[in-house]
Amino acid sequence: MERQNDRVSAAVSDALRRQIQSYLFADRTVVRAHVHSFGCQLNVSDGERIRGMLTGLGFTLTDSYEDADLILFNTCAVRESAEDRVYGILGNIKQYKTKNPHLILVLCGCMASEEHTAEFVRTHYPFVDIVFGTASLSRFPQLLLEHFQGKKFACDIGEYDAMYEGIVPSREHPFKAAVPVMFGCNNFCTYCIVPYVRGRERSRKPEQILEEVRQLVQDGYKEIMLLGQNVNSYGKDLEEPVSFASLLRQIDEIPGEFVVRFLSSHPKDATPELLDTILSGEKIGRHLHLPVQCGSDAVLAQMNRRYTVTQYLEIVEYLRQRDPDFSLTTDLIVGFPNESEADFQGTLDLVRRVQYDNLYTFIYSKRRGTKAAEIVDHTPDAEKRQRMERLLALQREIATEHYKRFVGRTLRVLVEGESKRKGYLMGKDKAFIIAEFPGDPSLIGQFVDVRVTDARNWAVEGVLAAEEELS
Ligand code: SAM
Ligand code: SF4
Ligand code: F3S
Repeated sequence: MERQNDRVSAAVSDALRRQIQSYLFADRTVVRAHVHSFGCQLNVSDGERIRGMLTGLGFTLTDSYEDADLILFNTCAVRESAEDRVYGILGNIKQYKTKNPHLILVLCGCMASEEHTAEFVRTHYPFVDIVFGTASLSRFPQLLLEHFQGKKFACDIGEYDAMYEGIVPSREHPFKAAVPVMFGCNNFCTYCIVPYVRGRERSRKPEQILEEVRQLVQDGYKEIMLLGQNVNSYGKDLEEPVSFASLLRQIDEIPGEFVVRFLSSHPKDATPELLDTILSGEKIGRHLHLPVQCGSDAVLAQMNRRYTVTQYLEIVEYLRQRDPDFSLTTDLIVGFPNESEADFQGTLDLVRRVQYDNLYTFIYSKRRGTKAAEIVDHTPDAEKRQRMERLLALQREIATEHYKRFVGRTLRVLVEGESKRKGYLMGKDKAFIIAEFPGDPSLIGQFVDVRVTDARNWAVEGVLAAEEELS
């Protein structure tokens, strides 16, 4: 459980805070909030800002539903399964409302930003008190006040505001921090709901990002993850445009031992300037998450991805010519409407050629309002599931072989936590390689040298180099 936030968000005025607190603490001294974020790291990062607003208002955070006075679901809409899960949980949560008449239920995030959601929730889940979209994050305290003042269903899925900078996050992790560099997406890939629920691209000013990173490093954070739906178009919308590569170089110059990672890079905007910056950076992770989605030019065109397989492979070649070990991961969608066996073979060929360190694979999910949802799909679901299994089997083979190259080498690893194996720790090196090794939990949050002794299909195994020297 976490105490109240002493760095109070500038997004909440003193007058508003006092008004909310007059209701909050009218008959209690402690008011607990449970925040559950689903979906991608950007959503989790929004959730940290929501937690910051709540603690700034006087709430105490709790990990459990049972003792919460406010439960907030920060939702994801990227696939149908993500939405089904939230509706399932909402159904179960009704019982807590019966037990605790004070309980406030809040639904926000990407799913809440879809046009039809608010009305659906109001009619099917009338016990939900507040709904707000990704555009209305900083207006949440206002909605809370409206709820206390007696409004039955306080809802705001309106215009995007510019108040983000004033909101101080309450971070979930003690030494890994997410820093959004931009919001929204302009790409409109035909399968994807994100541009509809997150609006157009809006970059944060470089000074504000640099200040946040400097403070995090000073506070002892060891991994900084820069976030955006397509970080490669960062800065194009600013009054004084600046490239993402230039932002990365400035972050790389901040003193201290830490690693900078970023997600996601659209291949159509991956410039040689960016690739050279990653290759020459001191603190920049030697890894690129470069979502390809599919290995067929015909399907890529239908997805509106705006690159071909050949163009994608040119980026891979550029990196691997300069560093044969350069680590690559990707996102792949299996079963885009009417994907043929030949299209799918294209994906398998691409995966074989690139030799990814890891794949994030998804079966296509139809999203209402997107272009691809209009296509009549003739590929049976069973066929899609079978293709997914074939893809995963191929990746298992590749990864084990691929990781063998590390055996005998020493990796500098940030220890992230205890592994599921008793007595073992796990961490990641600069290239995002997962390492498992025996060690004491006191090393969590530190950088250590690990000598690799074996390879598996998702990680390498090793021993602490320091202990080896002693023995
Ligand atoms: N902006 C990032 C990019 O373009 O790489 C991706 C963001 S999206 C939240 C994460 C991944 O979800 C995508 O790369 C894609 O593979 C997958 N995805 C998006 N829409 C999907 C859909 N309708 N069905 C299945 N997977 C989907
Ligand atoms: Fe979705 Fe494409 Fe934007 Fe990524 S780039 S968020 S896949 S529309
Ligand atoms: Fe992320 Fe899901 Fe929204 S993946 S941007 S939380 S739709």
